[in-house]
This record gives sequence, C-alpha cells and structure tokens, in this order.
Amino acid sequence: MTITSDSLQDRLQQAREKREASTTLSQTSLRLFDGEGDGIAGLWIDRFGEVIIVHLREDRRALQEQLRGLSPHLPELFGVSSGYLRIHETDPKNSALHSAVLLFGDPIEELWVKEGALEFLVRPSQQVNGGLFLDARDLRCELARISSGKRVLNTFAFTGTLGIAAFSGDALEVVQVDISKSILRWAKENYERNFSSSPRDGMRFIAEDSRSFMARENRRIEGGKEPYDIVLIDPPAFGRSDGKPFRLLSELENLIQSGVSLLAEGGELFISCNVRQIGFEHLEKVASREGSRLGRRITNLERLLPPSDFTNRSLNAAHLRGIRLRVS
Ligand SMILES: C[S@@+](CC[C@H](N)C(=O)[O-])C[C@H]1O[C@@H](n2cnc3c(N)ncnc32)[C@H](O)[C@@H]1O
Repeated sequence: MTITSDSLQDRLQQAREKREASTTLSQTSLRLFDGEGDGIAGLWIDRFGEVIIVHLREDRRALQEQLRGLSPHLPELFGVSSGYLRIHETDPKNSALHSAVLLFGDPIEELWVKEGALEFLVRPSQQVNGGLFLDARDLRCELARISSGKRVLNTFAFTGTLGIAAFSGDALEVVQVDISKSILRWAKENYERNFSSSPRDGMRFIAEDSRSFMARENRRIEGGKEPYDIVLIDPPAFGRSDGKPFRLLSELENLIQSGVSLLAEGGELFISCNVRQIGFEHLEKVASREGSRLGRRITNLERLLPPSDFTNRSLNAAHLRGIRLRVS
C-alpha cells in the first residue's frame, strides 16, 4: 500500500492520540507506533525520554523518504529532541548489518531513562533497541512486585534490566548470566546507577553460555545447593556459544527442562520466545510435556504479553510472547 506524506502524518498523530487516551504517553519510554497495529506494517517507533528510534523494514524505501520529509515535525509531534532511524533487513539473520543513523536533532550517545523507581542506560545507536526492551516493561514491574526474599536467575540477561527489577523488589539473590562480556558491562552500569547509593550483597554477573551455566547449577542443586525461586529465560532466536551454533527452535525443550529443574517447590519459570514458529500453544505444550517428564506438576500457567502501547498482536511482531508457570 502506498502511503502519502499526509496519511503518514495522520497515522502518526492517531497513534499518539491512542496512547494519550490510554495514558501510556506519561511513560518516558514506550512504543509510540507499532506497525500493523497502528496501520503501517514495517514501521515501528520507540521513545526513550527525549529520543525516538524509528525502525523501518528495508523493503519500505518509499516510506523512508516520507519519513525523512516529515522529520522536522516529529520533535513536536512526539515531544522529543532527537531521532534515530534504524533500517532492518527483511531477512532477520542479517539484521545486524545496519546501524542506527541520526534522523533529526543533535546526536545523543547515551541517556538515562526512568521506569518507575529505576533508571536504565539507553544508547540509541547501539544494539537493536538501544539496550532496553520496552515490551518487557510490565514484566519488570511484576518482577519488582514478586521478588522479595527470592533467589532469581536471569539467563540471557542482556543489559540486566529484568534482574535489576527483581533486585529492586528485594530479591535475596540475583544471578545475571550472558555470554557477552560487553553487554554485561552495560548491565553493571545499570546496576550501579540504581543501587550504588544503597549497596547490598546479592547481585552477581556471570559471562557464560546460559546453557552450560544452567547445567552446572543443576548439578550443584542435586548436590544440595538451594534451588531458585524464579528463573527467567529470554533467549534470542539465533544465539552464540563457544563452539556450537544456537537456534532457539531446536533448544526450546532443553531450555525449559533446565529451567524447570532449577526451581524450588512453588518456584516460577518465565520463558519468552520471539520466533515466528513458536506461538503460545506450542510453548504451553512443550512446558507441560517437559514438566511431567521431570515429575513436576504445573500449578499455574499464564501468558506473558507486552504492555498496551504494543498493539500489533501478530506472530510476526517481535515483542514479548511468553509464558509464566509455577511448579510444585
Ligand atoms: C533477547 S536478549 C535478552 C533480553 C533480556 N532478557 C532483557 O529483557 O533485556 C538475548 C541475550 O542473549 C545473549 N546470548 C546469546 N546467546 C547466549 C548464550 N548461549 N548464553 C548466554 N547468553 C546468550 C545475548 O548476548 C543477548 O544479550
């Protein structure tokens, strides 16, 4: 479908009004425009404080021109000072090829954005999302609510925000595991910003393949170590490891199995998957099967969805799609 400059401006305006009506616009960071859900497939816009990142699929070249033409109006429309544009390869395997470029305003290398009582470091031109997954905002809020006194394992931790949210809710122990040392440095910056004025023990960062870490922890637990109360598994579709390639589709069963066996009685597993082939039903089926294979009863099973500013519910949409389950 061809979009004229006027109709693009109208749709951006409507998306803004929709969020104003549901009060999400009061969040400093949120999804302002969500592809098909806001009427234009292949375009999504995230706001982080005073910056927006406009994401566009590579095949929407005409739209890119419209956006560039409209860019002088975007600061006022969205109440921001700078904007970046990130073009995504249509083939997701090549998505790292384009980095974000400045669309308008002054360059902003990094900024701290508030989320409730917490602050997170966003680097708009780095990582696919500036370092903060907006779709996990409600999940962070929930973790802060339920983590008091709990042992939490955050695998595939990225910039550590899920673990930091749990720690802010007085988790006893939070272990953050990611294979990338540089991303864990970012996670530590997030941790220090939030807790340096009230330091307490209990947060650990471990640069390792999450799968080998979970396997070792399972052996330790068999040997008498305390199990975890909360295990978070939010893997990428294609991961890295020391020698072997990592494909979520073929790893899902093992990940769920490892996660469930790390849990204490009444513990909870949160697992999410941004892979088109893995819908809720598939996740639920695999989780039930792996649970009974391990002799654990699933006493509660819920779906995890992104906050209401994410309006595109299609399986193609790259947003939080996961389940939360409790085992006895
Ligand atoms: C989808 S992100 C996780 C997002 C995170 N849960 C959040 O909410 O911010 C995936 C992360 O997995 C990491 N990763 C990829 N393969 C890994 C592996 N085998 N073991 C541990 N981490 C891995 C990447 O470095 C990246 O930081």
